[in-house]
This record gives sequence, structure tokens and C-alpha cells, in this order.
Amino acid sequence: MTKLFGHRGYSGNYPENTLLAFQKAIEAGADGIELDVQFSKDGKLVVIHDETLDRTTTGKGRVKDYTLDELRKFDASFRFTGQYGFNPIPTLCDVLAYMADKDACTNIELKTGVFEYEGIEEAVANCVRKYNLCDKVIISSFNHYSILRMRKLAPELKCGLLTDCWLIGAGKYVHNLDIPCYHPAFRNLTPEITAEIKQYGLEINTWTVNEEEDFRNLEKLGIDIAIGNYPVFQR
Ligand code: G3P
Ligand code: CA
Repeated sequence: MTKLFGHRGYSGNYPENTLLAFQKAIEAGADGIELDVQFSKDGKLVVIHDETLDRTTTGKGRVKDYTLDELRKFDASFRFTGQYGFNPIPTLCDVLAYMADKDACTNIELKTGVFEYEGIEEAVANCVRKYNLCDKVIISSFNHYSILRMRKLAPELKCGLLTDCWLIGAGKYVHNLDIPCYHPAFRNLTPEITAEIKQYGLEINTWTVNEEEDFRNLEKLGIDIAIGNYPVFQR
């Protein structure tokens, strides 16, 4: 069965990467949630996609230039103004505390592509351990060095490599790095490419799957997890 995760929560209908969006995804029956994590100025793990605040919150400028206390004052439901009241940027621990007793998985994406956020891998691993969620998380990143650091620090955590390109020999590449999951954009998953990846016994988790027709095609390909903004398709 192909599982369906809420991309940044149930972000099609609720403000992305907020506790509200994660709760709505779980209530809608999602098998898991996906979220993005960065460091605040004072080294706290905050859940937000962009390196800047402008698109999704009432703040302006870089996430890393504000302390957690400062970030908490911005409304992360800015794009849904007037619909859901005030929703702060959550910390990773806020979200994992909510997920701790849920029968669902959390895909934590380390947003280390623009700023590397030294020490973020260790901080994430410690937060996951604190909530006893080691068996219910997947850590992914477009920064493959970041994933290699995570593997070294926390070999008990499942990791995946993200790509958004037509990588040749993806299965071999991921297998050679001894990473168990591959997270490509779903448009890059042809039957041939999928077969090459599966040859290495890798788990394939893909994004961003917002149309039911695309989800059904991925089911036929035997994809493990589809991550989308509307985690409501029948499984
Ligand atoms: O983890 C899958 C997907 O979230 C990666 O792209 O830009 O939505 O974080 P992005
Ligand atoms: Ca993401």
C-alpha cells in the first residue's frame, strides 16, 4: 500500500507548517506528516519552509536573524488571514510532542540547502529521542552531506536523500551511500527509473502529489510514500 503524508501538514487547506495544519492532516487520516526545520538565531529548532519569513508569516527577513521568542510573535497563518486566527511558527519539539501518541510517522526535512545550520542534525536527533519517536521518523534533506552527518550521529534514525532532478543511477547512488530511502520529485519517477531504484531495495518516498490521478499512478508503480498537500485520498 502506498502511504499518504501531509506535505507541511494539510497545507492545501490550512497554513503550512503550523500545528493546526499537522492536526488537520492527522484528523483527515494521513499516514504521516512532512515538515521543514531550521535554526532560529538562538539555536532553537523551528518549523518553517523558507529561509525568509515574508511569504508565510507576518515577519520580514531571515529566520536565522530572529530568536525563538521573536519568531513566536509572527503569525504563520498570514496567507490565510482572517480564517484561522493566530498560528505561531512551531518548534520541532511542539510538533513531536503532538505526534508522540499518534499512529503516524513524521518526515523531518532538514532545510540545510542555503544555510547549513551547524549542529542542526544533533539537535534534531536529540528532539526525536526525547519524544521516543526514533521508530516513527524519516529524516530527509536535499543537502546529502547533512544526511551523512545525521547517519553518523544517529544511526538508529531512518534517513532519505531528496532530489528534484533527473538523476541518472539514483538507486546506485543512494545505495552506495548506505541510505535506505530515496525522496525524488514524483515527476521524475518513470517506470524505468523506479525499477532501477527498487533493484537496490530502497524505500521510495515522493512529493508533491496533489492530484488523485497522480497518486493512483504512484500506487501502481509500488511507491512507498506519497507526500501531498491534500492527504485525503482513499487507501
Ligand atoms: O520533502 C519533500 C518536499 O517537501 C521537498 O520540497 O520545497 O516542499 O520542501 P519542499
Ligand atoms: Ca519539505
